[in-house]
Amino acid sequence: MSAIIIDGKARAAALRAEVAAGVADFVVAHGRAPGLTVVIVGDDPASAVYVRSKGIATEAAGMVSATHRLPAETSQAELLALVAALNADPAVDGILVQLPLPRHIDADTVIAAIDPAKDVDGFHPVNAGRLATGLPALVPCTPSGCLMMIREALGDLSGKEALVIGRSNIVGKPMAALLTAASATVTLAHSRTRDLAGHVGRAEIVVAAVGVVHLVKGDWIRPGACVIDVGMNRVALPDGKTRLTGDVDYDGALPRAGWITPVPGGVGPMTIACLLDNTLKAAKARAA
Ligand code: GUN
Repeated sequence: MSAIIIDGKARAAALRAEVAAGVADFVVAHGRAPGLTVVIVGDDPASAVYVRSKGIATEAAGMVSATHRLPAETSQAELLALVAALNADPAVDGILVQLPLPRHIDADTVIAAIDPAKDVDGFHPVNAGRLATGLPALVPCTPSGCLMMIREALGDLSGKEALVIGRSNIVGKPMAALLTAASATVTLAHSRTRDLAGHVGRAEIVVAAVGVVHLVKGDWIRPGACVIDVGMNRVALPDGKTRLTGDVDYDGALPRAGWITPVPGGVGPMTIACLLDNTLKAAKARAA
């Protein structure tokens, strides 16, 4: 048996088309398009690539995209002043401050300054708390995209054994909360977990989000499991080029898993599509 390869690009294109249709309805109802503003501080090359892709996808969905590119020396006070101005701007529905921020800026302070109603990353403690307590929330984009793919593979997740590897605020913790809300039996593994192989071997759903190349070995996988690989590790090739690779030994997992996401082309495209979805949701909630 060989796993069904989950096509994140195709799934993301379908979600982007759905969002674009929702945006067109929003424009008719409210006479303006939803607006997403991205703030990037400094010149991290990977961040610059993400931010450019976000801008292009935002406009392609019919929304208003704005990007503030600030120099690396920007002070925390200056960044907080910009966030306050965006909070107060009625044309801005979503605010995304690209991470990582330069070391002299405290990311938690900046995230906490964003209006939770415009927090399309879902990183604000109010949104994290709402998700954890089962209230409507803006949910972080990567775990939202993962949940969509898992549901499409498995249908009802009630009672399923789910393993999330990685306890970040951006992916692991919200992923565990979403799977818990979907009535899966959730284990959250991390760097101190003993016998990771044993946990993986019991899981019907594995979400790997740690950033360690091929941490999850193919022969650990429970036959038929749905394996979602959030890892985006850049590895050097002998010819000097680089290649993106995941946290799962993809080739080893392929013959055992029931479903698997490739890297690239799996989770990555879903994240931006979910960001557009969150921006439309934020715009609708603000307009209501
Ligand atoms: N940096 C890497 N991923 C993300 C993300 O999802 N949101 C933000 N704001 N920064 C990131």
